[in-house]
Amino acid sequence: MARIVILTGAGISAESGLGTFRDKDGLWSRYDLGDVATPEGFARNPDLVHAFYNARRANCLGAQPNAAHLALARLEAERPGDVLVVTQNVDDLHQRAGSKALIQMHGALMRALCAGCGLRWDAPAEMSATDRCPVCGAAKTRPDVVWFGEVPYHMEEIQAALSACEVFVAIGTSGNVYPAAGFAAAARRAGARCMELNLEPSDVSRVFHDRRFGPATEVVPAWVDDLLSRP
Ligand code: APR
Repeated sequence: MARIVILTGAGISAESGLGTFRDKDGLWSRYDLGDVATPEGFARNPDLVHAFYNARRANCLGAQPNAAHLALARLEAERPGDVLVVTQNVDDLHQRAGSKALIQMHGALMRALCAGCGLRWDAPAEMSATDRCPVCGAAKTRPDVVWFGEVPYHMEEIQAALSACEVFVAIGTSGNVYPAAGFAAAARRAGARCMELNLEPSDVSRVFHDRRFGPATEVVPAWVDDLLSRP
């Protein structure tokens, strides 16, 4: 079990140019999440939803991991087996930075899912409502991302990690969306030391023992350097 569990949110990818959801001019100030991030929205207008995720996929393909993603990959390389990153992000910047022990609890922009037979495969750059599943042939393909009202992935594995970790760190997340917003409290109840690394206090900032505020590309590498300077 990993000694250090790290939860990341959109804030860790902000300086890679991918924006966030709830900051000023964030995604939810430009789109109605009910239209583009719910099963009902997808049923109503699949073309709009595919266009939304095609645009985000294009942004992601054009983005690079930043110093914060790279610092977490460095920590994992220096402390093999000690680190688990649980990300709410659907971008692939943690993977491209080199993180291996990684759970994408809200799914992945770069993956496609057939709502008919459950097949998952690497998504093409552009998906459309007329795409057919490579196996069952149904025109029911969707981005393999978890929408509001759906169950996040790998929750049992995440809960086991939270109950066993010694250190829990949340990076770049506003603490608005459960179950992820409840992870710090769960880790604290299990005895972990909890640290928030964020641009500003999140909605659950009071749950943490320690907090460091600033851009992720500054506070995350500094925190990793501190950690690696200790035995
Ligand atoms: N460095 C560090 N933190 C940052 C930076 C930055 N450069 N820029 C923004 N932040 C912080 C903001 O202060 C905010 O607390 O990142 C957080 C982003 O919050 P949200 O936009 O709410 O994103 P997130 O917490 O990841 O949202 C959770 O909500 O919409 C759903 O599924 C979506 O996974 C997402 C979930």
